[in-house]
Amino acid sequence: MDRDTFVARFASVFEHSPWIAQRAWEQGIGPDQDNPDGLHAALCAVLAKADRSAKIRLVQAHPDLAGKLAIEGGLTQESRAEQASAGLDQCSPDEFARFQTLNATYTKRFGFPFVIAVRGLSRAQILAAFEQRVGNDPDQELATALVQIERIALLRIRDLFAAA
Ligand code: GUN
Repeated sequence: MDRDTFVARFASVFEHSPWIAQRAWEQGIGPDQDNPDGLHAALCAVLAKADRSAKIRLVQAHPDLAGKLAIEGGLTQESRAEQASAGLDQCSPDEFARFQTLNATYTKRFGFPFVIAVRGLSRAQILAAFEQRVGNDPDQELATALVQIERIALLRIRDLFAAA
């Protein structure tokens, strides 16, 4: 696989952040790049080495859950599928209102949106995690968001390998 093919294929693994795939390629990727776990480890190593402001921008590149962009149809294909798999496109008016309140409170407190790997979770589980995490301290919450982003990336990589 050449550079452009690799970057085009894996650019979307981290939301709106193709620089992670680009940097991984420039660093020769890893020896295990031809399996999902190996590629995931190589991409996450790039992320781990990035500076704090780049990590914060990565979290900020995520859309709100059940947010305005979702309603307007502006999500990436991956994010739309993930949000739909958790039924976030089918909130009751009450659930929807709770998401809007939590999104606003959370983003004001931390400066980035709430990110959680939603696949396999119910709306009730997501709301419970949201209510718990909104009380975290900022450094702890940034670390938690990055762990969740690494998990989202793993699920996206598995999908790409399964579709190949
Ligand atoms: N969890 C899985 N995908 C997404 C996403 O696109 N945005 C947020 N906030 N969380 C997610």
